[in-house]
Amino acid sequence: MDPIRFQLNGRPIVVEDIPPTTTVLQYVRSTGATGTKEGCAEGDCGACSVVVLDHDAGGQPRYRAINSCLLFLPMVHGKQVFTVEGLTQDGEPHPVQSALVDRLGSQCGYCTPGVVMSMFEACYRDDLDQDWKVDDQMCGNLCRCTGYRPIREATHAIAGQQPDDSFSAALAATAPSSMALHYEAAGHRYQCPDSWSELWDAMDRAPEARFIVGATDLALTVTKRFQPLTDLISLEALPGMDGIERNESSWTFGAAVKLSDLEAATEQDLPPIARMLRFFASRQIKNRATVGGNLCNASPIGDMAPILMALGATLHLRSRDGTRSVPMDSFFLDYRETAMGPGEVLAMVEVPLPDPAARIGAYKVSKRRELDISAVCAGCFVLLDEGGLVSTIRLAYGGMAATTSRAQATEAALLGQPWTEDSIEAAIPHLDADFVPIDDHRGSAWYRGTVAKNLLRGFFWETQGEPVVGLSDRPSGTVVLREGP
Ligand SMILES: Cc1cc2nc3c(=O)[nH]c(=O)nc-3n(C[C@H](O)[C@H](O)[C@H](O)COP(=O)(O)OP(=O)(O)OC[C@H]3O[C@@H](n4cnc5c(N)ncnc54)[C@H](O)[C@@H]3O)c2cc1C
Ligand code: FES
Ligand code: FES
Repeated sequence: MDPIRFQLNGRPIVVEDIPPTTTVLQYVRSTGATGTKEGCAEGDCGACSVVVLDHDAGGQPRYRAINSCLLFLPMVHGKQVFTVEGLTQDGEPHPVQSALVDRLGSQCGYCTPGVVMSMFEACYRDDLDQDWKVDDQMCGNLCRCTGYRPIREATHAIAGQQPDDSFSAALAATAPSSMALHYEAAGHRYQCPDSWSELWDAMDRAPEARFIVGATDLALTVTKRFQPLTDLISLEALPGMDGIERNESSWTFGAAVKLSDLEAATEQDLPPIARMLRFFASRQIKNRATVGGNLCNASPIGDMAPILMALGATLHLRSRDGTRSVPMDSFFLDYRETAMGPGEVLAMVEVPLPDPAARIGAYKVSKRRELDISAVCAGCFVLLDEGGLVSTIRLAYGGMAATTSRAQATEAALLGQPWTEDSIEAAIPHLDADFVPIDDHRGSAWYRGTVAKNLLRGFFWETQGEPVVGLSDRPSGTVVLREGP
């Protein structure tokens, strides 16, 4: 058994005797570093934000603001963690702290430590090339009393500044660290294998263990439902799980790729995915949440499934018997049930490069635009033949049934037809045959059914080159790869 080793504000920490589902938030507060606060314990308020020095999908070191309320302590093994107490240098406040003070960005101060840590990540980012990205950096930080203008102004003032200090030096010098760990305490076990053969061994030792990666979904079992997770196997350190690659025919995303990395990687070349991620949770959540976790939790309102289904993705599953491939549209079997068998993990998502002539749309409808769960979510893909008739169409909807699924009757009604308003209107009633929509507090069945129809109409009009509805500084959730016919 190994101890958990990490650095907290530059101090080496060794932990041997506390349960592995202790959150980083609980641990740092127990050390007396009580600047970091608990607001919601479910990733919604940002009061618990701390920064972890991590690596992105390309192996580059990055400071990432994360919600410490949803991160279990073994997940920072081998890493450096910073809280608001660790930012001063030679007794002087960090530039992000000064920026907030100068603009009167704090009143009661409850949100302030989390705000400071999100600003800290912004300060060392090198990709904040548009104003909305700076705003998006802060969308996971609620403030109840100051008002957001001073916080926003302070963040814009320091975004991307990368001061010449010890934090920049650490960013330049830090090599990826090993996350491999076998930790047991208080009758609980956490294993993080860093090779596939060690994964099979770990599974032999703990046949009932739950897999975990980003923990943004599974940690809620402990923090909100107060149920124990006694045996966990992290898939985060397995080889090939965090890579993003593109070849002549496809993109491949390792299942443990963090959504913030996926958003950055697809922004230019696969915009329907990036645009969906633009309206997915907060920066802190996307800094931990993974593409594999989003698919494997098999939520009917998971946001990645519809667009991946529309793009014709294939999922590569791995077990000790080898690998097998499952088309995305055969992966979900029933509510929260997938085609993964016992002993199988999702290793990789493969997306064929779309035909440049294809029109692709990604839509998310939720009660509020930022940091909300979908009521209805859709991915749409259409390709026309030389005569202007529909030769390929994939319409995938989330929030409409127990699983994300394709609108097969509607697709059949459109296949071979001219891509016109008349064809769309003739096909739309088929959506009633395709889905008996969920009826719950996020949306009635009538509402969801109506939204689904209007999204298809909206997709059609967008392919006709109609202006995209949305504020100019906030790209909408929709993208069309090429002008309409
Ligand atoms: C505040 C908040 C906001 C959110 N907003 C959104 C949103 O806007 N849209 C949305 O779709 N979701 C949202 N989520 C849900 C969640 O963040 C995502 O589904 C996320 O992608 C889960 O990834 P993870 O790595 O954290 O999964 P984990 O919590 O680590 O795992 C989730 C499940 O998948 C299994 N699993 C994970 N990876 C694998 C694998 N490779 N192979 C086999 N099994 C695996 C685990 O055993 C577990 O059952 C939100 C969550 C929170 C807390
Ligand atoms: S306590 Fe609210 S996000 Fe963690
Ligand atoms: S300063 Fe009071 S909650 Fe933000």
